Amino acid sequence: MTIRIETERLILRPLTPEDCEAHIAMMQDPDVAASLSASRKPQDRHDLWRQFASYLGHWEMRGFGWFSVEEKETGQWVGRVGPWMPDGWPGLECGWSIARPHWGKGYAPEAAIGTVKWTFDQFPDLSRIISNILPENANSQAVARKIGEEKTGEMFEFWGFKLDIWAAERKDWLARFG
Ligand SMILES: CC(C)(COP(=O)(O)OP(=O)(O)OC[C@H]1O[C@@H](n2cnc3c(N)ncnc32)[C@H](O)[C@@H]1OP(=O)(O)O)[C@@H](O)C(=O)NCCC(=O)NCCS
Repeated sequence: MTIRIETERLILRPLTPEDCEAHIAMMQDPDVAASLSASRKPQDRHDLWRQFASYLGHWEMRGFGWFSVEEKETGQWVGRVGPWMPDGWPGLECGWSIARPHWGKGYAPEAAIGTVKWTFDQFPDLSRIISNILPENANSQAVARKIGEEKTGEMFEFWGFKLDIWAAERKDWLARFG
């Protein structure tokens, strides 16, 4: 089955090997790396290649994973948003990262709403969806608020990061966005 989510301005579809270079370019931007790399600095392309391979592997092992986000108008790759739950994760997460030139267009919340809808639909027993966010990541917190998530007060530690767990409860979320 082909997975494809369409929103007003975006197409979401599973990551493919062809997206690797665009993904590396996004991750090597210092402003993106500040929130997504253990060192807070851009990782070298070899590490990013391995990371990308693990994202493709996540699809294989879980049957879901990051979506590539493309602009409908231009067909351009603008980021990755998607459901994600590697081993040891505190829940099924909706995550988001947008390439620096496309920040501020509301793409992350638009793609995340499409993703959360898709995820609740795929997993009827899933009672909540979470997002793990650094306390200093104001941009990401803004996205969480726009998509109806609230800070739970729970924390998750990973790579030396202490992340706040934000979440949306299924029933409330579907009443608002479904
Ligand atoms: C967080 C992120 C995905 C937001 O994506 P986006 O598509 O720009 O989302 P929005 O357009 O809704 O903007 C979110 C907030 O970013 C800030 N922002 C917007 N444009 C910006 C710009 N050009 N430069 C810096 N910050 C900007 C604003 O505070 C905005 O909130 P507001 O609309 O309430 O003012 C993006 O900033 C990103 O990829 N950051 C790096 C990776 C990351 O932090 N991922 C999440 C890990 S939890």
